[in-house]
Amino acid sequence: MRTIEIAPLSLIDKMNWLQYAIAPRPIALASTIDKEGNVNLSPFSFFNLFSYNPAIVVFSPSRSGRDKAHKHTLENIQETPEVVINICDYDMVHQISLASGEYPKDTDEFVKAGFNKLPSTLIQPPRVKEAKVQMECKVNEIKSLGEHGGAGQLVIAEVLCMHVDENILNSEGSMIDQKKLHHVARLGGNWYCVVDETNLFEVTKPNREIGIGIDALPQSIRNSKILTGNNLAQLAHVKEIPFVDASFEDEQLKNIIQYYSINPDEMEKKLHLYAKQLLDQNKVHESWQVLLAGA
Ligand SMILES: Cc1cc2nc3c(=O)[nH]c(=O)nc-3n(C[C@H](O)[C@H](O)[C@H](O)COP(=O)(O)O)c2cc1C
Repeated sequence: MRTIEIAPLSLIDKMNWLQYAIAPRPIALASTIDKEGNVNLSPFSFFNLFSYNPAIVVFSPSRSGRDKAHKHTLENIQETPEVVINICDYDMVHQISLASGEYPKDTDEFVKAGFNKLPSTLIQPPRVKEAKVQMECKVNEIKSLGEHGGAGQLVIAEVLCMHVDENILNSEGSMIDQKKLHHVARLGGNWYCVVDETNLFEVTKPNREIGIGIDALPQSIRNSKILTGNNLAQLAHVKEIPFVDASFEDEQLKNIIQYYSINPDEMEKKLHLYAKQLLDQNKVHESWQVLLAGA
């Protein structure tokens, strides 16, 4: 492992090491307004949800690395402590990048980036019509993290209401369908990623009855040279070690036992390889049955 001390790094290296490592980061497209009513729109990937009761989001317009100046977004929020957080998705990624340009203070980036305005219902800054999720927020607090270039200025905002495009809801209309909102997130440098059906997967939550843990797995499984940490964790998620299921019928298992019963080491290897294949398809019950057959 390479160990990198942060303090001696140049500003750009600090930024890159941290931003390449802490990724992907969701992108807030923040709409704000100054006291004269001039609107600003800028993307921020130092952004996340920190509490849902109260509903608190935080994003951070940093001081400029060149001249330590504050971002216009922050100046607007100091004058009008309100912000619409529009969630960035794939359909708008090039427009949000365009909106991030360093336009003069009175420039309306809605116009520059080709977004349409929708009036908000509770606050002054407008929403981005094209965004599929728009959150009207009041700013509770601004927390400065320093005076140097690159110092974050945390905007701690409370979500008062959110507007969600009906087209991204599930068939019952009761929740956002994760497959329909193609979030875009920022990584290091110019890298972005998009969430879609090809890269979405589910991980079962530890249920109320917590798993036995990897330390409680039989030694032959725990010390497997084939099963990975992920595979062991899938197996260890059961509330007790399963029993052999007499009704479990599997051709491949039968073949392994038939061909390799004279060579126990080779049989264990083949069983672990097959169990791994099943676990990689999330077939935990079947995988346990394969492993128990060799025990
Ligand atoms: C995807 C993306 C994410 C960004 N995230 C941040 C961020 O979290 N903090 C920040 O200070 N600047 C960030 N920027 C740069 C700002 O958007 C940019 O400095 C913008 O011009 C600020 O505008 P303003 O001065 O009008 O507020 C990001 C740019 C892009 C394209």
